[in-house]
Amino acid sequence: MADVKMIGVIGGGQMGSGIAQLTAMHGIDVCLLDVNPQVLSTASSSISSSINRLVSKSQLSQSTASDALKRLRFTTNLNDLSVADFIIEAIVESEEVKKSLFVQLDKIAKSSAILASNTSSISITRLASSTTRPQQVIGMHFMNPPPVMKLIEIVRGADTSDATFAATKALSQRLGKTVITSQDYSGFIVNRILMPMINEAFYTLYTNVATKEDIDTGMKLGTNHPMGPLELADFIGLDVCLSIMKVLHAGLGDNKYSPCPLLVQYVDAGRLGRKRGIGVYDYSKEQKSSKS
Ligand code: 3HC
Repeated sequence: MADVKMIGVIGGGQMGSGIAQLTAMHGIDVCLLDVNPQVLSTASSSISSSINRLVSKSQLSQSTASDALKRLRFTTNLNDLSVADFIIEAIVESEEVKKSLFVQLDKIAKSSAILASNTSSISITRLASSTTRPQQVIGMHFMNPPPVMKLIEIVRGADTSDATFAATKALSQRLGKTVITSQDYSGFIVNRILMPMINEAFYTLYTNVATKEDIDTGMKLGTNHPMGPLELADFIGLDVCLSIMKVLHAGLGDNKYSPCPLLVQYVDAGRLGRKRGIGVYDYSKEQKSSKS
């Protein structure tokens, strides 16, 4: 396909806004779409403050930062993405909701446009089957936070063409990322390995083997992980972790993927992690002091 000049990103949450920021910082025009104007306004301020933070730490020049901010547009209207060369969706992890979005995208997107999903575990083959261009549908799984993490996991659906794969790989490299490639099986590579570790950390807590602090310190200092598994679960979102464990359990059919009852209970209680101010840990004081 021709050079990617304009990217559409759908979903203004943590992942979508991070992908939009990354793209703009790499000199590509980007239009970020969310159905909720309030979400877009939060995304716009968090992108600006993240870019300004990089300037204040001298990691980005003022002119690159201003250029990046000028490359960003925000919209609630799907038709604005009809000019995009490449569209990345990062909306809620629901197969039904994503499929219905792909049906609409297929209608409005340029015939040459590639439709990528940032899904953490939903089948790319099934998402692709809701379009008339399954050869142009691909998984492009960014890690959180997208501007910082060095990896993109590319997932090939059953019908993804070599040209689509090559264009997605080239774009990922242009964004400064290292690419790994997965076939389309539950959890792909990263979450198939990461989520059972997080789930096991919950079992370790649930069965009173150790405190949450010792579990996290054990993995941080014992295996050099930047965050302990429980802290990381709070960062990712406990609801996201639970939904990925359910996909692994359903798709791979082994009891070892059964979600820990404590993880289920926290999600039931609305303890979803950092984004809610409470998960395994309580962040309410930290978030109040950062606002004051
Ligand atoms: N935009 C740009 N830069 C950012 C940023 C953002 N949104 N957030 C953080 N940074 C930069 C900071 O500027 C800082 O840069 P510097 O070191 O050059 O000064 C650097 O990242 C580190 O940030 P902080 O000092 O604020 O914080 P930490 O040193 O504690 O690092 C972290 C934060 C990078 C998140 C680190 O703790 C980490 O790597 N954690 C593990 C994250 C991880 O495992 N992510 C993958 C999760 S799995 C996933 O996403 C898949 C999904 O499907 C579930």
